[in-house]
Amino acid sequence: MILPAAGSGQRFGGVQNKLFATLEHVPLWLFSVRRLRLHQRVGRILMPISASDRPRFETEFAQAVAESEVELVAGGKERTDSVRSGLEALGDDDSVALVAIHDAARPLVRHDHLDAVFAKADQCGAAILATPVTSTVKQSFDDGHSCHTLDRKTLWLAQTPQVFRVDLLRQAYAKHRGRPATDDAELVQRIGIDVALVPGSPENLKITYPHDLTIAQAILNIQSQHEH
Ligand code: CTP
Ligand code: MG
Repeated sequence: MILPAAGSGQRFGGVQNKLFATLEHVPLWLFSVRRLRLHQRVGRILMPISASDRPRFETEFAQAVAESEVELVAGGKERTDSVRSGLEALGDDDSVALVAIHDAARPLVRHDHLDAVFAKADQCGAAILATPVTSTVKQSFDDGHSCHTLDRKTLWLAQTPQVFRVDLLRQAYAKHRGRPATDDAELVQRIGIDVALVPGSPENLKITYPHDLTIAQAILNIQSQHEH
């Protein structure tokens, strides 16, 4: 598992990496790690972090890093640079057939959805969690002066985890030259591989803005009720 955590959280406010914000007193990055650790398909966790955050991970959070057996690796400028670095750190371990990539900023991923996305990737080599779009989506090519409506039935919102056969993801990254991509599935598609969409849930939200923490706490309350 590669757990990109090397962003700076500009939309969250940018004072510090948003992953140091807490949910029930646990920093978001650690919340994500703890949840992933409960799943049997998650083996090594390689976490790309920025050079500026490294001192905090190595002092304040050294014990949490050690206890959760997270391997810190150097992140990069773009998210794809961070994932590439995680992939390099993974090395050529033949026993690993699949690699999963999960945003450290999605702390609430559900166990049953992890089951589902790994199972689909076992079958077809490339699978991601996604949710059907519920809003009507307009497309405009002229900054909103005119627009048309896209067919909602064909639209999904991509999430993570995104799970791939290791060889496919390596090929995709070997071919990737600069052209921006907002997720790893896009890079895999560019080498001609179909990526399966596995229905997930809006519970698996990405913490992007400060108010997402309030929503996350509400989701967590509901999830805890269901556990008991
Ligand atoms: N990420 C990363 N390396 C980067 C950029 C992002 O590892 N160069 C990680 C983030 O830490 C986050 C995930 O990718 O866990 C999804 O990115 P995003 O939600 O966009 O986080 P940030 O880039 O930190 O936020 P922003 O775009 O608002 O600055
Ligand atoms: Mg970003």
